[in-house]
Amino acid sequence: MGELRNLISIHDLDREQIDEILDVAAKMESVSVKRSKDLESKIMAVLFFEPSTRTRLSFESAMLRLGGSILGFAEAGTSSAGGKGETLADTIRTVERYADIIVMRHPLDGSARVAAEFSSIPIINAGSGSEEHPTQALLDLYSIKKLKGKIDGLTISLCGDLKYGRTVHSLGMGLSHYDVKIKLAAPQQLRMKPAIIDEMKKAGVEVVQVDDVKEAIQDVDVIYMTRIQKERFPDVREYDKVKGRFRIGTEQVELLRDDAIVLHPLPRVDELSSNIDHLPQAKYFDQVYNGVILRMAVLKMILG
Ligand code: CP
Repeated sequence: MGELRNLISIHDLDREQIDEILDVAAKMESVSVKRSKDLESKIMAVLFFEPSTRTRLSFESAMLRLGGSILGFAEAGTSSAGGKGETLADTIRTVERYADIIVMRHPLDGSARVAAEFSSIPIINAGSGSEEHPTQALLDLYSIKKLKGKIDGLTISLCGDLKYGRTVHSLGMGLSHYDVKIKLAAPQQLRMKPAIIDEMKKAGVEVVQVDDVKEAIQDVDVIYMTRIQKERFPDVREYDKVKGRFRIGTEQVELLRDDAIVLHPLPRVDELSSNIDHLPQAKYFDQVYNGVILRMAVLKMILG
């Protein structure tokens, strides 16, 4: 694979590149435990203009396990961008003088690509608007491969908020490189955009749409549940109409196959009951750890 410079969109990666990232991640499992000094001379800036627990902290954990250093902000309000109206371009042109790589989360679609245009150092998109979350998609693919032993041949349900959820947009595109069947399960108002479905079908993926959570769970290898993204609804009354509609709890789990796995990018609200956390199929906290492993691989491939 050619040099990995930025990671802006899952669209920028082909299957060979994705498989290589997943292979490097597998090698990071032991490095993560032993730690290394591979990136000892490198500094990672984390610029988070939106809240995060997993993405920011797993990137930080990944960098620390590789021996590197970290600076940045977790809230736009503490930066001059939030507090004084500094432009994204000027923020990037400043931070590139302090660090070797920028990991950025921003509420606007297209923000990561804009940042990359102004940056002389690599940019990793840690979530932009409702469009993209490429490292989440890669860690989801890594989790599926690690837990199921393969990706090809699986049937995967993407459930919940398929309209505003950026993780399912990136994961859907990532899965398009594999020989999979995808069930899209969402309330009518939160269905996946037709353009993304068309792209998946064009790539040869068999796609079916359902609007019932029971249908989503039945006879699939992977259930990927997502939160309804309240913060992205233009009108909170629309959110109120769909909240609580898609939910997996103890009453649904009897429909789960024994060998199925349940994933969720987290955070969850009420769509995934904590009453099912003890089940062998519930793998979302293993998925959280895989975020560290996968992000170690990405940092190593870009900076190593
Ligand atoms: N999955 C995910 O992006 O979680 P955070 O919002 O906590 O980073």
